[in-house]
Amino acid sequence: MKLKVLITGANGLLGQHLTKLLLDKNYQVVATSRGESRLPFEPSDNYTYHSMDIANAFDTYAVMNREKPDVVVHAAAMTNVDDCELQPEQCERINVQGTAQILTDAETFSSHFIFISTDFVFDGEQGNYKEEDDALPISLYGFSKLQAESMVQTSDIPFAIVRTCLVYGNLLKGTRSNIVSWVKESLEHGKTIQVVSDQLRTPTYVEDLAKGIALIIEKKAIGIYHISGKDWLTPYDIALKTAAKFNLDAGKIVKVDASTFKQPGRRPMKTGFVIEKARRELGYEPISFEEGLEKLRS
Ligand SMILES: NC(=O)c1ccc[n+]([C@@H]2O[C@H](COP(=O)([O-])OP(=O)(O)OC[C@H]3O[C@@H](n4cnc5c(N)ncnc54)[C@H](OP(=O)(O)O)[C@@H]3O)[C@@H](O)[C@H]2O)c1
Repeated sequence: MKLKVLITGANGLLGQHLTKLLLDKNYQVVATSRGESRLPFEPSDNYTYHSMDIANAFDTYAVMNREKPDVVVHAAAMTNVDDCELQPEQCERINVQGTAQILTDAETFSSHFIFISTDFVFDGEQGNYKEEDDALPISLYGFSKLQAESMVQTSDIPFAIVRTCLVYGNLLKGTRSNIVSWVKESLEHGKTIQVVSDQLRTPTYVEDLAKGIALIIEKKAIGIYHISGKDWLTPYDIALKTAAKFNLDAGKIVKVDASTFKQPGRRPMKTGFVIEKARRELGYEPISFEEGLEKLRS
């Protein structure tokens, strides 16, 4: 019997790449997202799509009862940090109540629950975080994801929490831009961009993140895992490397401090992850940022 994996947020950047990887690995995939499908797959014995609002209890129960998945990968979220700050009720409804809803259903059907979380659960004072470091969010987005993590951790079904950091990769149909695609597109249009040089991240190639999640599924792993790239870079470094790789004009990249931007949601200064646990327990090994750029070029 093939393992059946239900993905929430399948229309998103991670969701689309994860759906493709799991289909390539011959899993049965139930893709779900709020809107109409933007995935390039036709329904088959191995693949089906449902529009499902995770904040609607009737919706999630109906789909979960019909599909009874072995594994749930919960990637759906309100992911825009500023939107969360400006619409706190909506952020709570989707990121906290939505997780409670899909988690309750997963408990009913005894699914292995894999929750996708974020480096923004940390305050960014220390950087290079390990799984056991104290989480202390400084934005409503980070707070909502930490609340969701706490619910998952008190659940009595097998669970994994995957925290990831600054995901980049090829844009697919309808996926939002990411730092590399934004820099590339801006410079291609001759725009001058301001990029911060006093924040640190371990940018994550989206296909590596999908592979890390596939390893968790295969190994039925339980617990918290930091799954990111291995290079600790500032957004400014990322922009310079992107310009160099795509032969674009780095002169259009203006180095600024984070204090230049007055954004509703605060961003942690130094995040990035120690990924030794994922390496040791899962055999996870990400490519370098240079290799990630090379993949985007080919
Ligand atoms: N991207 C990053 O840099 C990053 C970093 C750290 C952590 N993460 C986490 O990784 C996960 C995936 O991120 P991503 O970049 O793939 O996000 P994304 O591209 O913004 O996709 C999120 C998806 O969630 C779906 N969604 C939103 N509200 C929903 C609702 N009420 N019901 C059902 N689906 C809903 C949306 O579906 P529709 O399009 O159908 O509306 C959207 O496609 C998220 O949990 C995020 O918090 C991402």
